[in-house]
Amino acid sequence: MALLFSMALLLLPHIFKLDGKPHADWQQFLGRFHPLIIHLPIGFILLVPLLEVGGRWKPSLRESASLVLALGFISSLGAMTLGYLLAYGSGDSGAGVTRHMWGGIALTIGVLLCLLVRPLWASGAVPRLYPVLLGCVLLVLSWAAHQGGSLTHGSNYLTESMPPLLKRWTGLGSSPAKAPISGSFYAQHINPIFDSDCVVCHGENKVKGGLRLDSYEYLMEGGKDGKVIAAGAPDKSLLLIRVTLPKDHKQFMPSEGKPPLKPEQIEWIRAWVQQGASSTATSLSGITINEHKDVPLPPVGDYSALMPEIAAMGSGTGAKLVQVSNKASDGLILRTVDVGKNFGDAQLAQFAKFAPYIVEVELARTGVTDAGFDTLSKFTHLRVLHLEDTAVTGNSLTKLIPLSQLTYLNLSGTKVTKAALAPLEAIKGLHSIYLYDTPAQHAPIADTAPPTERKTL
Ligand code: HEC
Repeated sequence: MALLFSMALLLLPHIFKLDGKPHADWQQFLGRFHPLIIHLPIGFILLVPLLEVGGRWKPSLRESASLVLALGFISSLGAMTLGYLLAYGSGDSGAGVTRHMWGGIALTIGVLLCLLVRPLWASGAVPRLYPVLLGCVLLVLSWAAHQGGSLTHGSNYLTESMPPLLKRWTGLGSSPAKAPISGSFYAQHINPIFDSDCVVCHGENKVKGGLRLDSYEYLMEGGKDGKVIAAGAPDKSLLLIRVTLPKDHKQFMPSEGKPPLKPEQIEWIRAWVQQGASSTATSLSGITINEHKDVPLPPVGDYSALMPEIAAMGSGTGAKLVQVSNKASDGLILRTVDVGKNFGDAQLAQFAKFAPYIVEVELARTGVTDAGFDTLSKFTHLRVLHLEDTAVTGNSLTKLIPLSQLTYLNLSGTKVTKAALAPLEAIKGLHSIYLYDTPAQHAPIADTAPPTERKTL
């Protein structure tokens, strides 16, 4: 019986393969109790050696050892089943998940064997086998538990805050700083984005959605739905689609409420895909990245008195004023998501009243034209300006000169020419200018800037 049972457990992963595809919701629902229930078998199993050892002096303790062992087996089986449902249901795979799974299966079989062998040991027929088996079970338990912990908390969870002296003694947690593999745009700018925001769920240990993002080869391989990068076609690339969905969309990435990628990171990925998603290209036309650290900018004035009007602006035009943070001195963001071409120069002008408090303006894909620059020139604290895919021609860029705090300007997909960009030279802090898919693309402004100020990639 026990042999058949063990065989069945060993075959389980071959019948219901962890194929990286999510399955039924009920499986995920039940599976999510695994991290809770798992503490039961751990408790029971750890109690067994205590009872056996204590029984040397107080024999009555040993009388309950069999029962506790049986409870340990039943709860291991339950926790293992839930764990399997969790991985199978939510489509988890990866080396860490596989190790943890085999740990759980081995543990359950180990406890079953202990349960069977114990009577032989108690009667004195086979004196050694049970203690050895029990020792192995404890080792497997620690190992499997550690694998599970690494899946939920990350593999450096324990070593991260380890005192330096202990780190040196154990040789743990002192991984050398990662040097960029090469000077390519992918290695320097694209891979680090995935590394910091995606690899927890799309790396070696945990592979969600069958997708790994920890190397160029894996990235291009794609996930459960096939390729996620379509070289030359950003709009067809699943990866870009998923990181640009509305933040509360079920398929938005990074998932589970993690903060979205920054607009310029998305811009880099988009430009990189557009220009062929190469692993070796060292620069992209139309992308200027300044490596200097941002200098802290002066705070804006206090807009608290205008709060009722700020709230009211949301309903009138479909565009919204959003607070950067709870601190009024951090300023406001003008958001125009979903308003489309109905939001034009007249609508923009209504925000002139809040001009000194606005630090970021998102006008991508709106109906704003060159006439809108009259309003924009009043936004004296503006740092970030999005104008991609609008009808602006660049002829009014001179009007941006008073915006001395501007650091980021996106003109991608507009008709801006290289000549029109010349006035921007006057804005010293303006380090990120995006121009791909414009007539100016093949002549980035950085060519005319002093090399220490701006770096073209
Ligand atoms: C908290 C975990 C988590 C993080 C962090 C995360 N993802 Fe995901 N990702 C998932 C899960 C779960 C799936 C599979 C379910 C689905 O398709 O929504 C998935 C699926 C995907 C897919 C679809 C793969 C396919 O073939 O269907 C893409 C593309 C993707 N993620 C990109 C990213 C990117 C890019 C990041 C980083 C910016 C990221 N993910 C961060 C959990 C995560």
